[in-house]
Amino acid sequence: MSDKAILEYNGEKYEFPVIKGTEDELAIDIKSLRSATKGMITIDPGFKNTGSCESAITFLDGEKGILRYRGYSIEELAEKADFLEVAYALIFGNLPNKEELAKFHKDIKDESHVDEEMKKILDGFPKSAHPMGVLSSLTSALIAFNPSTVDVSSDEDMYHAIVRILAKFPVLVAWTLRKKKGLPLDYGDDSLGYVENIHKMMFKRPNQDYKKNKVVIEALDKLLILHADHEQNCSTSTVRIVGSSHAGLFASLSAGISALWGPLHGGANQAVLEMLEAIEADGGDTKKYMAKAKDKSDPFRLMGFGHRVYKNFDPRAKIIKVAADEVLADLGIDDPILDIAKGLEKEALEDQYFVDRKLYPNVDFYSGIIYRALGIPTEMFTVMFALGRLPGWIAQWREMRLKGEPIGRPRQVYTGENLRSFVELDKR
Ligand code: CMC
Repeated sequence: MSDKAILEYNGEKYEFPVIKGTEDELAIDIKSLRSATKGMITIDPGFKNTGSCESAITFLDGEKGILRYRGYSIEELAEKADFLEVAYALIFGNLPNKEELAKFHKDIKDESHVDEEMKKILDGFPKSAHPMGVLSSLTSALIAFNPSTVDVSSDEDMYHAIVRILAKFPVLVAWTLRKKKGLPLDYGDDSLGYVENIHKMMFKRPNQDYKKNKVVIEALDKLLILHADHEQNCSTSTVRIVGSSHAGLFASLSAGISALWGPLHGGANQAVLEMLEAIEADGGDTKKYMAKAKDKSDPFRLMGFGHRVYKNFDPRAKIIKVAADEVLADLGIDDPILDIAKGLEKEALEDQYFVDRKLYPNVDFYSGIIYRALGIPTEMFTVMFALGRLPGWIAQWREMRLKGEPIGRPRQVYTGENLRSFVELDKR
């Protein structure tokens, strides 16, 4: 097979190298396109056919429904690893040994205070503020309290910045929830595991001891692992592109949080639950909503269905569906919303519209049901996604900075007015 692709235009032929990834993915390397063709570019709105980078972090095969972090299958990681091990593997390339993991956790604990002054910033938000807006603002505000720029050529500096955000971000997440619930802002407990501590920081009541619930912690851990990275999605691409201007890690992450907030991306988990509740309130008629989803004159979409890359079952959705059943059974919860979700899924998988377009349930279809069972308010669902995605964003930012990638700056095809003369205001 040729390792070159040929473009023919106006009688001229141009050759471009074809590169191959470790899983045999092929790409035409068009770095020399503009100079070779004297100005021609490619156009691809939504980047449906465009690779923005070469990356060794996450492999995703949307046709086969495969997801691997650093070569480890998502199924195995969800079953056998904990979130901190997965975070380490994503960021540094391999699963940590016992000593590395213990040091990583200790270093995180040592950084887990957030400047008290940050509470004043949180205080300025109304209780009604959406937690994603608050989280993005607080993450950005962290820069003011940790102003030193990261010298990316120093392993030590890089490691310290990473540990610092992994330590402080859960505190911000917990404070965002506690503010919403009117609970006092608190810190964690260094004697607890990373995820257990997050749970405690979020839910401990001021007048009660924290009670550990193994089922809840394990479910939370699994959900965070499943969300930890997903290659060049909208928020991750945002983190990479903001970071490519050499804006700092916290600023890049804050931008990623804003990108994740949208209902077509991470905000879908909140949208799914609101949709399921609306269907339930409307009498549970799933067929009516299926018809709305297929009606091109109706903007309604079946939230939690479809994916830019997966044209098969999202492997994360499969794991979450089983986990939702287990968690609800373990906690003794009988949630009618779960039945509506299963009904919708069955109808969609048999419906020609969904079959033709290869629309399958995605990660967000069942995650909200578990979050709800764990007592997490609907508006916090996307915050939980952000918490899970944090190691992925960090890993991608680190990879991009270590490779010294150029600033992200796409081109365009201009379709506006040609040169025209200025008309004075009184003559317009
Ligand atoms: N309900 C009904 N129709 C849909 C849906 C849906 N959820 N998703 C896609 N379609 C249709 C769409 O109308 C289009 O039909 P046609 O070809 O007749 O015009 C076709 O399927 C292709 O859709 P698209 O919008 O061109 O595909 P995309 O790759 O640009 O969008 C998506 C992917 C995830 C934004 C979209 O499927 C969607 O809006 N889904 C609902 C929101 C959602 O669940 N988002 C979470 C994604 S997973 C979490 C994450 O990684 O962020």
